[in-house]
Amino acid sequence: MNGALIVNGFLNTDKFRDIYSRLENAFSKREVSLSLYANSELIAPMGEKLPFRDTPDFVLFWDKDVSLAKQIENENIPTFNSSSAIELCDDKAKTTLALHGFPMPKTIIAPKTFPNIGYCDLDFLDDVVSSLGFPIVVKECFGSFGTGVFLANDMDELLKIVREHEREPLLFQELIGESFGRDIRVNVVGGKVCAAMLRESKNGDFRSNITLGGDMKVYIPTKKEADLAISACEKLGLAFGGVDILFGKNGPLICEVNSNAHFKSTYDCTGINLADFIAEHIIKQMLCICHYSLHCHSEA
Ligand SMILES: Nc1ncnc2c1ncn2[C@@H]1O[C@H](COP(=O)(O)OP(=O)(O)O)[C@@H](O)[C@H]1O
Ligand SMILES: [Mg+2]
Repeated sequence: MNGALIVNGFLNTDKFRDIYSRLENAFSKREVSLSLYANSELIAPMGEKLPFRDTPDFVLFWDKDVSLAKQIENENIPTFNSSSAIELCDDKAKTTLALHGFPMPKTIIAPKTFPNIGYCDLDFLDDVVSSLGFPIVVKECFGSFGTGVFLANDMDELLKIVREHEREPLLFQELIGESFGRDIRVNVVGGKVCAAMLRESKNGDFRSNITLGGDMKVYIPTKKEADLAISACEKLGLAFGGVDILFGKNGPLICEVNSNAHFKSTYDCTGINLADFIAEHIIKQMLCICHYSLHCHSEA
């Protein structure tokens, strides 16, 4: 069995390279080769085969290039995570809509505008404020590492944040005060929780992201938290995912779900290598697919 690991050709930091080599090692330990490709190497007109060196049996898609993931699926190559799951997680507005009915902070998706236009009037913010009250969390729908998440304590701050970011899709959320500066990251693979950590900001920031200086501790999720993380991943169609959970007044709340959660911090904190769980899960899924098609052929 041979797989392809697809990564973004334009993200070349040590943090990303560490993840890729952990994934390659986890598969090679199990005698499955994983060939690395940048998305920028896989260029082909629609309907024509993508230029893989060897057609892979499966693809581990560690990127958010949803169009490329769909093109691969069109070639009937099993893809983990699937393009649709990645698409739902990449856009926080889509995640919120897909998780309709799940406990989440009260959320308002900003009205759509266009990058070359922005908002010519901001009257709608009065409705946002009267529904959510201050403080309000403003999020870029496509942000990560906490860098696109802001806090507005009053109308002046809200106007400033929205003016600075009006050319990209945004959403507004009530601040979950009980969770100020802390949340839990729960890693799920194949419908099971494999690792979790408590993340706490030590510099007064309301965001607990490790990249912003958050501290981390091993955490044993309650049954409610674990079940919430598992069912969110199931609903989004994720084979593996990193779920951020906030401490709400009345129980856990989904903050966001990551389809390509960086797991170096999880490893540093817990000693658990999620690459092993991911490799094992994909190999098992592939064996099921092979078994199923053998069974169908023998019955035909
Ligand atoms: N509604 C909220 N109330 C309280 N804290 C929040 C809220 N939304 C986000 N946070 C904090 O901000 C961090 C980053 O937000 P998140 O939605 O996970 O964005 P990112 O994709 O950038 O990690 C979270 O880990 C959490 O600590
Ligand atoms: Mg997050």
